[in-house]
Amino acid sequence: MKTRQIITRTLTALISVFALISVIMLLSNCGETGSKKAVSEVDSTKDLKDFYEDYFVIGVAVGPNNLEGDQAEMIKKHFNSLTAENVMKPALIHPEENRYAWDNADKIVDFAQANGMKVHGHTLCWHNQTGAWMFQDSQGNQVTKEVALARLKDHITQVVSRYKGKIYVWDVLNEAVEDRDSTKIYRETMWYKICGEEYIRKVFQWAHEADPNAVLVYNDYNTENPGKRDRIYTMLKKLLDEGVPVHVVGLQGHWNINDPTEQNLRDAIEKFSSLGLKIQITELDVSIYTSRADTIDIGFTPEREQKQIDFYKMAFDVFREKKDVITGVTFWNVSDRYSWRDRRNMKCYPLLFDENLKPKKAYWEVVKF
Ligand code: G3I
Repeated sequence: MKTRQIITRTLTALISVFALISVIMLLSNCGETGSKKAVSEVDSTKDLKDFYEDYFVIGVAVGPNNLEGDQAEMIKKHFNSLTAENVMKPALIHPEENRYAWDNADKIVDFAQANGMKVHGHTLCWHNQTGAWMFQDSQGNQVTKEVALARLKDHITQVVSRYKGKIYVWDVLNEAVEDRDSTKIYRETMWYKICGEEYIRKVFQWAHEADPNAVLVYNDYNTENPGKRDRIYTMLKKLLDEGVPVHVVGLQGHWNINDPTEQNLRDAIEKFSSLGLKIQITELDVSIYTSRADTIDIGFTPEREQKQIDFYKMAFDVFREKKDVITGVTFWNVSDRYSWRDRRNMKCYPLLFDENLKPKKAYWEVVKF
């Protein structure tokens, strides 16, 4: 009898312990998944842009040949904004002083309009992909500041006016801040060498005059690096104090599985938005390689894939949390089929869609909230 009582009590105690453990596990699960869903619970009838409908615009950088065949269908499904990867850059849209080449840019704008998508203009003033003619006279000598500024004004006025009301946001100035040297603010580009810092204020003013409703962006990379972030902040604060029309900071987002840290990403968003500016992530891709030195082509290993999933999850958790200041997230290229970051013998797999345009595991992590 005594033995039976001991067994019964022991069993009751064990059952109670199991019940308690189950309740604790259930509660802790609820805590973790309070706003999170399992991948199997994600609504597979929705596409990327639909998940982010109440957050921000989801864009993609394209060339005219992305707008045909299977890529065109996929772009229409997942994105609601297009950026021209190259064809609106000065050298391509304005190859000679008296010649504009609108065709390719028009194709992108027309495709967007036909499919109810927005267009993000890229880019009006840059040191790269700009015709050498802009800086030279007919003898090949460097032009004066007056000539350079007059050409830049004509360029910006023509391009912005042509797409007035069709391009809602323009990357007005690209990468004008010094990348490394902490003793300088401005990058020593041809524009800076010829015009000094005056051109910086002017490009925003000319864009605003050409389309007063366009949203105007200062766009750069390494914006999460504290030194560069602070140099950009200093420039923007000065512009805003002078009443220059700048509305958005574009964090390009050419990142990798280790960089930036969550803290540096948050700090950059907070610092720029403290100026009253909105933020767009303008050129997002996350390479599986962490540096130029990390160039042994190890491929898309499970370990690198997991790191990429974790990085994308972290970044989009931050973006959603900061939705009051973030107005757009644009991917730089459509899928891992082609990325500007790929090198010979080094494929970077930086996007959310694989070479067959199918969502990768990182995609499901980004839409699972
Ligand atoms: O158009 C020529 C073509 O005629 C020639 O046959 C071919 C041979 O290589 O080159 C073509 O030009 C290429 C151009 O893209 C257009 O496809 C250039 O070589 C190539 O260097 C250029 O790369 C672009 C790069 O900007 C130039 O700096 C990338 O596609 C583009 O994704 C990239 O985008 C920039 C953003 O605008 C600004 N932020 C950084 C980002 C990455 O560099």
